[in-house]
Amino acid sequence: MRLLRKERSQRQPSLREIKKANRTSWVMQNDPQEKTPIKKALRPWRALREIKKDISLHMYTTDFENTLDTYLRARFTLIVVITTEEERALQSIQSVCDSSRRACLSWDLAEGFQILGSKAFSLPNAPDPLTALEQVDKGEGEAVYVLKDFHETWSNPQIKRKLRSLAQRLKFTRKSILITTTSTKIPDELRDEVVIMEYPAPGIAELEEVLKRISQTPGIKINLTQLGREKLVQAALGLSTAQAQRVFAKAIVSDGILDDRDIDLVTEEKKQIIRESEALEYFSATETPDDVGGLEVLKEWLRLRERAFTHQARQYGLPAPKGIALIGIPGTGKSLTAKMIAGLWKLPLLRLDTGALFGSLVGESEERVRRALKIAETVAPCIIWIDEIEKGLAHGGLDSGTSQRVFGAILTWMQEKTAPCFVVATANDISQLPAELLRKGRFDEIFFLDLPTSIERREIFTVHLLKRRRLPQDFEIERLAQESEGYVGAEIEQAVIDAMYVGFNHEREFTTEDISAALQRLVPLSVSQREIVQALRQWLRQGRAQSASFEESHEAEGQFVPLQIQKS
Ligand SMILES: Nc1ncnc2c1ncn2[C@@H]1O[C@H](COP(=O)(O)OP(=O)(O)OP(=O)(O)O)[C@@H](O)[C@H]1O
Ligand SMILES: [Mg+2]
Repeated sequence: MRLLRKERSQRQPSLREIKKANRTSWVMQNDPQEKTPIKKALRPWRALREIKKDISLHMYTTDFENTLDTYLRARFTLIVVITTEEERALQSIQSVCDSSRRACLSWDLAEGFQILGSKAFSLPNAPDPLTALEQVDKGEGEAVYVLKDFHETWSNPQIKRKLRSLAQRLKFTRKSILITTTSTKIPDELRDEVVIMEYPAPGIAELEEVLKRISQTPGIKINLTQLGREKLVQAALGLSTAQAQRVFAKAIVSDGILDDRDIDLVTEEKKQIIRESEALEYFSATETPDDVGGLEVLKEWLRLRERAFTHQARQYGLPAPKGIALIGIPGTGKSLTAKMIAGLWKLPLLRLDTGALFGSLVGESEERVRRALKIAETVAPCIIWIDEIEKGLAHGGLDSGTSQRVFGAILTWMQEKTAPCFVVATANDISQLPAELLRKGRFDEIFFLDLPTSIERREIFTVHLLKRRRLPQDFEIERLAQESEGYVGAEIEQAVIDAMYVGFNHEREFTTEDISAALQRLVPLSVSQREIVQALRQWLRQGRAQSASFEESHEAEGQFVPLQIQKS
């Protein structure tokens, strides 16, 4: 047990643990029943890892079961379980009741009361919800009453009232009501009485079981390598068992066989589910560091962590990085960097739309954020991109309470998440950012993206010329870099595009001169929104963030005032 607990904390095993694991492996090796290969058994760290793997496979469902058991012991009388997988949830509830020897009955409108657990119980007769509640009230002994689909009826004032008084009265008994529902909308009057639990999506072990069952169907052709099988199951994480079953079946039907090539199909299906979650958007990021000019310090930081989410990194004892905040002037490449990280680390990129998190009903926003983050966790390892975080927080006008709560939910999640989700938060208005967001330890690093230096501007021109299939050597990059002092990446890109239009309209190739003229026509943000840039700089000077560029922030700082004089 001690071994398990220590392993959970993800640190490297101590000598004692290695010795202990060695002993365990040795026992495994010498057990004639055990078919563990000798090589595997001799490796103590591997043995530890196996144990850890075993824990994580079953963690989600057992977590639910343990918590439910605790709630029942603590005499919580009204528990709502939100699930789209009633069948699995009922199995878990039954298993909790069986192991604690509680009687367990289910009720629904079609079947009335049924025995769910293994403990015998005389079945009351209840054709309607109100009678069902009355029967619960009358029932004797220790029992859990699972009421299915009760959300269909609990808006009825009589039922609501009965549920409320029962929740109070049952406290003096050993009975609990458990409502399984797909709906997250709980009537306001019941909110204080209920404890809400969310039934987790199936874990790896359960999905493997689904795959196994499908493979055993006569006539089904499966040709999966061991790695392919693992990846297929991993790709299905986040799907419900029914969804996983459907997508595996779909993969088989498409070409008559389930093989390694079907992993993409499963991933595609999951993207669809993420799209449906309203607040999450799935990006297929193809950007690489070559698409981003400058920002060398930031790039170096990212390159150093390129393998941070691999198995080897965990084995080495490295904790998974938590996330970074990118603060800076608009158009300097914050959003671009978020996409680039996903491309560089080859991880899925999920954008959390803070604006979409705000539902019209009280309590719905937090529910949405919770659900979105849950879905995101199932895709882990992944990048969660919270773009323009301050905009989401400022949302809601008078309803600052909701923004606060949604924001609080995000912060708590960032603090407590165990799944390897790397958060990239971007912001350009620090005045609206609550101080606790940038508190030390929340992010691994806070980067400031300033106006690009001349070297960076050169690189940005190069990036955008190459992107438009032009050779940088055909242009006077040095001159353009000088003329674009005070311009951000987005403006440089704009100047290149403007110049292309000019060339295109004159039916000729565009030139340095065209770009230069386009630059002249453009009023950069560092001029038009001088105050914003100045405020950001001031903030940086207080040492709150690291510059994303090399030690050239002085140069960047110098850019801004002369330009102001020049233009006005
Ligand atoms: N360093 C850079 N290298 C190459 N292109 C850049 C760079 N910075 C910005 N760009 C170009 O400008 C476009 C807009 O940049 P991006 O959206 O990343 O800016 P941002 O910092 O997120 O701005 P905002 O604060 O307004 O959201 C990018 O898609 C890219 O084409
Ligand atoms: Mg942006």
